[in-house]
Amino acid sequence: MVTLAGPATEAGYPRSGWPTGVPSTAGVRPAASPASVARGFDPRKTRDPAAKRPFVQQLFTSIAPRYDWFNRLASFGLDQRWRAAAVAQARVLPAHRVLDVCSGTGDLAMLCATRQGGAGHVVGLDMNRAMLQRACAKQRAHGLPIGWLQGDAEALPFASDTFDRLFIGFSTRNLSHLPEALREMVRVLRPGGRLAIVETGYPANPLLRAMYQAFLFTVARTIGWVLTGRCWPFTYLARSVRQFLTPQQMTDGLQRAGTQVEYVPLSGGLASLYLATKCDQS
Ligand SMILES: C[S@@+](CC[C@H](N)C(=O)[O-])C[C@H]1O[C@@H](n2cnc3c(N)ncnc32)[C@H](O)[C@@H]1O
Repeated sequence: MVTLAGPATEAGYPRSGWPTGVPSTAGVRPAASPASVARGFDPRKTRDPAAKRPFVQQLFTSIAPRYDWFNRLASFGLDQRWRAAAVAQARVLPAHRVLDVCSGTGDLAMLCATRQGGAGHVVGLDMNRAMLQRACAKQRAHGLPIGWLQGDAEALPFASDTFDRLFIGFSTRNLSHLPEALREMVRVLRPGGRLAIVETGYPANPLLRAMYQAFLFTVARTIGWVLTGRCWPFTYLARSVRQFLTPQQMTDGLQRAGTQVEYVPLSGGLASLYLATKCDQS
């Protein structure tokens, strides 16, 4: 059982200590009832933004207990290296206020908190309670000071210009309204602050790209099925990677949101890292 998360203050940033337990539900639209979401994977569910949100909620609730295992096995452990590269290249300092959006089971938040040496300026936000409960359990086991908040990446419950560093890992594909979410993330970042996005990649080499996508539809999907007894979440995963934005499109979107962007392909493009610095508004 997890304990409570303190509320964000008016300024959007907690004044006294960091929330460390069961997330509040501020800003979260309720998940659809199980009966209202598809039993199997129906691509139409992810085309319509209104339907995509409950679909994504159901998906992560259903795989939360095995999410970390799937990541490690399906990426041969590279996923943690990619997150570590994001944290290192974003140059997180001990005094930085850090937000990990779509934190899931909290791996990025924990890497940031470790890098800060326990200074305690990290908040992990996610809309899915089951994922956050895993994050909370892991954080306690590691004794790291991180606050968890249940909330919506597309309507962040923080004041503008609050954070020095903002991360979002392997999640932009899952958002219903990506341009709005990018604008929201840039809004809560202080001018000069940095947003680091880690995503599944887009190898520039067409042969490697085809092999990577075939791997997701075959090996990764089988690993997911063995771990969870379900295939549809991993069919969605593979399709969402295949249909997602190219690095150029993502870079354009980030520029439109008011940042200067550097694209860093990781492991030959198997993962993508975008380092976006918020432009000075003056
Ligand atoms: C693939 S997981 C990524 C978790 C974590 N960032 C990582 O590095 O493993 C995607 C997460 O995004 C969350 N998510 C999707 N849409 C969201 C939204 N609109 N607001 C907040 N969280 C969202 C899901 O609940 C899920 O936990």
